[in-house]
Amino acid sequence: PPNLQMVEEDLGLERVNCRAKGASSGFKVAILGAAGGIGQPLAMLMKMNPLVSLLHLYDVVNAPGVTADISHMDTSAVVRGFLGQQQLEDALIGMDLVIIPAGVPRKPGMTRDDLFNINAGIVKTLCEAIAKCCPKAIVNIISNPVNSTVPIAAEVFKKAGVFDPKRVLGVTMLDVVRANTFVAEIMGLDPREVDVPVVGGHAGVTILPLLSQVKPLCSFTQKEIDYLTDRIQNGGTEVVEAKAGAGSATLSMAYAAVKFADACLRALRGDAAVVHCAYVASAVTELPFFASKVRLGRNGVEEIYPLGPLNDYERAGLEKAKKELAGSIQKGVSFVKK
Ligand code: NAD
Ligand code: LMR
Repeated sequence: PPNLQMVEEDLGLERVNCRAKGASSGFKVAILGAAGGIGQPLAMLMKMNPLVSLLHLYDVVNAPGVTADISHMDTSAVVRGFLGQQQLEDALIGMDLVIIPAGVPRKPGMTRDDLFNINAGIVKTLCEAIAKCCPKAIVNIISNPVNSTVPIAAEVFKKAGVFDPKRVLGVTMLDVVRANTFVAEIMGLDPREVDVPVVGGHAGVTILPLLSQVKPLCSFTQKEIDYLTDRIQNGGTEVVEAKAGAGSATLSMAYAAVKFADACLRALRGDAAVVHCAYVASAVTELPFFASKVRLGRNGVEEIYPLGPLNDYERAGLEKAKKELAGSIQKGVSFVKK
């Protein structure tokens, strides 16, 4: 195959490179794990985002193929591919936003925590490079178990002396997307009009939908509350089982990741009132990390909102969620400290 870099230069297309390097308007975004089940549709959707001027696609396999493919889309973002550890730093230099969907997914019968042994090391290595190359970037962490990988990222950044709690965000948007869909389904609403706060974390009972705070105001029977809570908490498992060994949610996750990344970019641009749920360093409970509604701004997380009034059912759910979360957070912290 032709060496694209050389062909571009022969044809005087270095203007493309100048645009990529200089890109003054628009944001520079890297996806780490860009050739994966989430990474590929996520890369495609980010290439379609007009706020992105430069898109770096990094993976340990197949990054050149995905990059060549996506680079033919006639949208404005310039796309560059980076393959293997030796190109990781080049992939990260100058980035405003780094999205991490790198790591193994679940198979039926596994919990997200079963992924810890492999994914903890992957996230640690990637965050060490981020700390070195783009410590001011906003980091969106998708790799599971999110309840532990976000504490891992925070510890890595602390070790490197660059931790900014406003800039490290665990992506729990898929829980909100699912909750909006399932509530809309049973209430006969358009999912785009529904907003369900989902707090806590991103695994089983730590996923806590606050159905008493749904907008528009909805009144559910206890049977509906039990059904919705169970379906939202087990939405990931529903997909893992349906895919029967071929992985976990990728397309709905790419959609959710882009919804969240776009919110981060709009906030970086200076848009007001950008509010979403995310799993962040937080003082909302006694735990050091917790997912709740946050307001995003030019520096990342500008404000963390309290949980608001909870009913008895939600208060009981919160206690269960905190118990499991505490262990997952400690596991992540110890992994880096040991
Ligand atoms: P996948 O196996 O299809 O893709 C993962 C990609 O990561 C692969 O291309 C692989 O080569 C790459 N990778 C592996 N090690 C790497 C490294 N050291 N550096 C860079 N890239 C590396 O998996 P997937 O379905 O895309 O899922 C990825 C992760 O996202 C899993 O951990 C999964 O559990 C998680 N996930 C999270 C959510 C969420 O809501 N936060 C939702 C769905 C999936
Ligand atoms: C999800 O919620 O779909 C992801 O966390 C993937 C999984 O393992 O369920």
